[in-house]
Amino acid sequence: MNRDISNLRKFVSPEIIFGAGARCSVANYAKNFGARKVLVVSDKGVREAGWVEEISQLLTNEEIEHVVFDAVSANPRAEEVMAGAQIYQEHNCNVIVAVGGGSPMDCAKGIGIVCANGKHILDYEGIDTIHLPIPPLIFIPTTAGTSADVSQFAIISDPVEKVKISIVSKAVVPDVALIDPETTITMDPFLSACTGVDALVHAIEAFVSTGAGPLTDMHALDAMRLIKDNIVTLVEQPKDIYLREQVMLGSMKAGLAFSNAILGAVHAMAHSLGGYKDLPHGLCNAILLEHVIDFNYSEAEDRFKVVAETMGIATKGLNTSQIKVALRNKVVQLKQDVGLDQKLKDNGVTISDIPVLSDHALQDPCILTNPRKSNKRDVEVVYEEAL
Ligand SMILES: [Fe+2]
Repeated sequence: MNRDISNLRKFVSPEIIFGAGARCSVANYAKNFGARKVLVVSDKGVREAGWVEEISQLLTNEEIEHVVFDAVSANPRAEEVMAGAQIYQEHNCNVIVAVGGGSPMDCAKGIGIVCANGKHILDYEGIDTIHLPIPPLIFIPTTAGTSADVSQFAIISDPVEKVKISIVSKAVVPDVALIDPETTITMDPFLSACTGVDALVHAIEAFVSTGAGPLTDMHALDAMRLIKDNIVTLVEQPKDIYLREQVMLGSMKAGLAFSNAILGAVHAMAHSLGGYKDLPHGLCNAILLEHVIDFNYSEAEDRFKVVAETMGIATKGLNTSQIKVALRNKVVQLKQDVGLDQKLKDNGVTISDIPVLSDHALQDPCILTNPRKSNKRDVEVVYEEAL
């Protein structure tokens, strides 16, 4: 019997432990994976916040040998992945624990890829390029936004070419995500805003993606509700653990949605921007969001209507163009409320940068699932509107 497989959907996820104190089971999971020696991947900021020391102590308490690698930049670089892989091999490690935001987590995925598959990290750009299984990954996120702890994405910067490469493979879905809202309490308001808006963009892009389906829609819609209801208050009250938990749950759900439905033009263009100008990922998304919604709206009106309603807009009696304007205004207001109302030019981008930014964006895998097909001029116009 011939069946159309284009409607089939798969859903991958790590084992997830969610809630305050989840990080405390790190040693237990490392033992379960038969840890001989653990490579702990983090960065200097997370170390200064005290989380590396705590995880290290938890491993020591269970007599699990480990070595820390924290030479990871805000946008993790290819040479940092290769340096981490060398340390993993020199110390004969067999389990990786990542503690931190998207940068250490993506770097840890890269280290795992290189150690198991042998070539340079930049050789694995693209979709399903990883052929050998990578070492066990136990991830403890300390931000609520990137969702590298649940996703099949790893984003690595190539500073020579000034691009970010996307690696998409179920091989990089972590084995265990210990998602503990207490770890996000050390984020400052700017980072809380950037990561929260990143998570909101994950949810919106996953919902309007051409790869969306019933397995991802429920997570995407829950994520939108949780983030829009809590992110503004959280930025005002960053120590509120209830708000931290709500936004982290939203981020996790957005991560499950986008990991499986993939993303769209906001992320393709944000990856290009972040690689070229070394800017925070969430800020890049925030700058571009309403302009990409404007571009995409006509190709996914029904989906965007649901997005608008989920974001709290009463659509009854409104026509399509009124809903579009209301959604745009809602997004712009939310960005202003969390302090992310910058433009591209505020971050050193000029009109002459736009052709090369557009070339890079069109090569990013996230552009493939954008609801509206786009050519170079389309992408240039969106960048110009965000300038
Ligand atoms: Fe993102």
